[in-house]
Amino acid sequence: MSLLNDKVAVVTGAGRGIGRAVAIAFARMGADVVCVSRTEENSAKVAAEVEELGRKAWAKAVDVSDTAAVESAAKDILEQAGKVDILVNNAGVTRDNLLMRMSEEEWDTVLNTNLKGAFNFTKAFTRPFMKQRSGRIINIASVIGLIGNAGQSNYAASKAALIGFTKSVAKELAPRGVTANAIAPGFIETDMTAVLDEKVRDAILERVPMSRFGSPDDIAHTAVFLAMEPTGYMTGQVLTVDGGMVM
Ligand SMILES: NC(=O)c1ccc[n+]([C@@H]2O[C@H](COP(=O)([O-])OP(=O)(O)OC[C@H]3O[C@@H](n4cnc5c(N)ncnc54)[C@H](OP(=O)(O)O)[C@@H]3O)[C@@H](O)[C@H]2O)c1
Repeated sequence: MSLLNDKVAVVTGAGRGIGRAVAIAFARMGADVVCVSRTEENSAKVAAEVEELGRKAWAKAVDVSDTAAVESAAKDILEQAGKVDILVNNAGVTRDNLLMRMSEEEWDTVLNTNLKGAFNFTKAFTRPFMKQRSGRIINIASVIGLIGNAGQSNYAASKAALIGFTKSVAKELAPRGVTANAIAPGFIETDMTAVLDEKVRDAILERVPMSRFGSPDDIAHTAVFLAMEPTGYMTGQVLTVDGGMVM
């Protein structure tokens, strides 16, 4: 299939988990992919997997929370790839703690990565998107941004804010043919959730009608849906992909 033939996609947090699955699903659909992650090693590994699928790939080690680094990376990306059609703001972290014990560092790290990171990358590509009168922005939020979670006030705040950001960007850019949507995954099998102990996993599964965690591909396929040409009339939406947990 070639639903994304010759599109160029930038995927942040592409080194592992959901971001890696998005990069590979996009490549399978014909897109060239810029793989951004914190570490050179992980972004390079996934870029090599994209190339094995016959698409072009670029690996970038960029801290999404570093505004100057993102601006400079965005310039390089536009020069090297020639254009960008799709941006997936996926890089994210957790620093769980009860509010009473949460440090300023835990709060700042989560907000700076999950929210400011998306601001940095979205702003960096807004001008080119507006100029070319097309562009797809896909922000990976979370069901936790919709329903909250004890021990994750920083994470929930970052994801709820990302949803508000998505809707505002959607309104600003709609007249220029640029869409912005969010995906709110439920619990997905990645390194992020591998740290949960058995008891917590069982408690989560009791709340999931499908009685299973999602796979990174479940989210990647939704990202493909939001990136492809025929869904271009959809903007400012939040798609929940969670086995029925929040409905
Ligand atoms: N897993 C879930 O259940 C779940 C549920 C809802 C939402 N989400 C969201 O989905 C997204 C991906 O989650 P995941 O589970 O795939 O996470 P993951 O397996 O922990 O991978 C996170 C990715 O983000 C990158 N990253 C982290 N901080 C970064 C920074 N400051 N700059 C650049 N890259 C950074 C990491 O880079 P390196 O590889 O170089 O370390 C890694 O590639 C996150 O936004 C997360 O909040 C996940």
